[in-house]
Amino acid sequence: MTDLISTHTHGALGIIRMTRGPVNALGHALRVAISQAHRTFESDPAIAAIVLTGQGRFFSAGADITEFDSGRRAPFLTDLIAQLEASTKPVIALVNGIAYGGGFELALGCHGLAALSDAKVAFPEITLGNIPGAGGTQKLPRLIGGPAALDIILSGKPISAKRAHDLGIAQSIDGTEAEALTRIEADLADGPPQRLPRDLTVEGSPEDLSEVAAPYLRRARGAPAPAKALEGVQMAYDTPLDAGLAWERETFTALNTSPEAKALRHVFFAEREARKIEDVPPQTPKRALASAGVIGAGTMGAGIAKCLADAGLSVTVIEQEQDRLDQGLARIRAIYDEAQSKGRLSKADAEARLARISGSTSMDALCEADIVVEAVFEAMDIKRSVFAALDKICKPGAILATNTSTLDVNEIAAATSRPEDVIGLHFFSPAHIMKLLEVVRADKTAPDVIATAMALGPRLGKVPVLVGVCDGFAGNRMFINFNREAQILIEEGALPWQIDAVLSDWGLAMGPLAVMDLAGLDVGYRIRQARGPQSPYPFTTADRLAEAGHLGQKTGRGWYLYPDGARRGQPDPEVETLIKAVSQEKGITRREISDEEILHRCLWQLVNTGYQIIEEGIAQRPSDLDVIFVNGYGFPKTRGGPMFFAEQTGLARVAADVRRFHAEIGAHWTPSALLLEQAETADA
Ligand code: NAI
Repeated sequence: MTDLISTHTHGALGIIRMTRGPVNALGHALRVAISQAHRTFESDPAIAAIVLTGQGRFFSAGADITEFDSGRRAPFLTDLIAQLEASTKPVIALVNGIAYGGGFELALGCHGLAALSDAKVAFPEITLGNIPGAGGTQKLPRLIGGPAALDIILSGKPISAKRAHDLGIAQSIDGTEAEALTRIEADLADGPPQRLPRDLTVEGSPEDLSEVAAPYLRRARGAPAPAKALEGVQMAYDTPLDAGLAWERETFTALNTSPEAKALRHVFFAEREARKIEDVPPQTPKRALASAGVIGAGTMGAGIAKCLADAGLSVTVIEQEQDRLDQGLARIRAIYDEAQSKGRLSKADAEARLARISGSTSMDALCEADIVVEAVFEAMDIKRSVFAALDKICKPGAILATNTSTLDVNEIAAATSRPEDVIGLHFFSPAHIMKLLEVVRADKTAPDVIATAMALGPRLGKVPVLVGVCDGFAGNRMFINFNREAQILIEEGALPWQIDAVLSDWGLAMGPLAVMDLAGLDVGYRIRQARGPQSPYPFTTADRLAEAGHLGQKTGRGWYLYPDGARRGQPDPEVETLIKAVSQEKGITRREISDEEILHRCLWQLVNTGYQIIEEGIAQRPSDLDVIFVNGYGFPKTRGGPMFFAEQTGLARVAADVRRFHAEIGAHWTPSALLLEQAETADA
């Protein structure tokens, strides 16, 4: 017995229970422990069969990902699986809870697979840029056929016990371990299980796979793992198992060191790290949240109300006038209707969640709310009056949150007598879809309010990142500088379609100019007009376009032309003429700008601003900024985020570029002291 496993007997069954908290990751020590326990039971004459199971929510979440970068040691998982397959006594996997990746492969290496009703199996490797590496691509097709196996491998998504049973992965489902053991004993009495996946052959032809593979390959945008998964499953049809396993092993190892896999692992760990707050330890008490208020049921408020109701909170939505309230509630219903029509939610679930949402035109209805999220117009005087009213109405201990994207949360908090309860919850649009939640800590926000807000994030299906108060917080402050650089490049000689092509080839979902067209050029225009002279200067062309009614997709022309409601824009010769006229007016001699210069100037603006933000204590660590960009700004996870990309490029090189841009282009390239310092350390 170790803290990794426990063993006991149940009649003639020898039970090996994995007990390595928190998720039974199959690290070296656990592999050794299982191997030894199996040998012990195998040589025990009183034991007829061996049952391998887990505890709590986990059978096993799979490989210990930390070993991917620190190096793995024998016995490898494949060795352990080979040992179980060669066992002289049958081994039954009793899958309780989650069996993912290597955990699922371990179960597929057993002579039988029994599931408890809360079991879930999945191959999430694809989400980390890889394929299953311990038999998954070869054995699952043998067990359930090529197309179904490929879909599981390419989607990375969990399969419920029931579906696993329907597909033929699990032979039985029971409610409790005791019931499952009784069934296993009874089945053994009828004879040993005959179904080792390695001994089966795949029916059908590899051609059957193309329909399943096509959409995944399209979305892969050149990332290598999905194509390799397809190749592996194709091999399962006609290649002897051991040759298939050798190919899989080699491919897994090669993909593991691919830049995409490294970047995806970085994002995985970065999201976990983002939850850690230096001065708010994990044991900080959290406030209970059962009921919520949302003030303003516009674009953002409607989506926020849905997130809260989905998480099980009762939600009261406030608008000042009845017709606005009716429109807001209709907006929420429309979001649920859309989720239903896309098959994401059943009618019954949608109705149950909608039933948790009520509306009122009086803020007094918020007197019992545990948390209130304000999403009214972006104007300081309105926000302050809302918070002053909340201060009078809300019960002591209620969390008062603002969804402001640009305003000073300290100033909003100062409108109350309880600034310690005030925090920013900056959702991104559309609020019910975008994963990012910037949790904005103001000067006086209490630690338990921060801890509660960070814990609320995952409940809402969001990835929370803590930031501090400054103009634009972390994400928008960086993003505006990125956009500003694109504008400067346009004035210097680049064209919008060149910039968008460079950045989307690099991996962005959309280039910055196409994004402006989608959001509407009037949005930024209004903000710049409101800010007056302190507004960023090089948006002249964008402003001229907005003034001429070129507002983007909605008016059929912006930076691009969108004939007949097209969603993809075409280059517009008139815009090119306007751009050239603006350069001339400003006395700029246009020049040829290389794709590399475009890429680095846009990305290093993000990076330099990112280091400034960390220097100022607005964000805690570079990886938090990566989490922000991949979850809130359409940055490709396969690049790991801007800060990771800079580290991979070499901070010394980035710092040298930034210094050069500073000398050649202007003061907005003043290098961050922290970037220079990090570049030196990285160099040493
Ligand atoms: P919106 O104009 O769509 O909705 C605002 C709603 O608030 C309207 O329905 C209005 O009737 C209501 N309202 C105004 N004053 C009110 C009051 N005193 N009491 C009750 N209801 C009131 O605006 P949107 O886009 O939803 O923005 C709301 C907030 O979210 C703003 O602070 C904005 O900066 C922020 N935000 C917006 C994002 C976006 O992309 N639209 C992204 C992130 C944050």
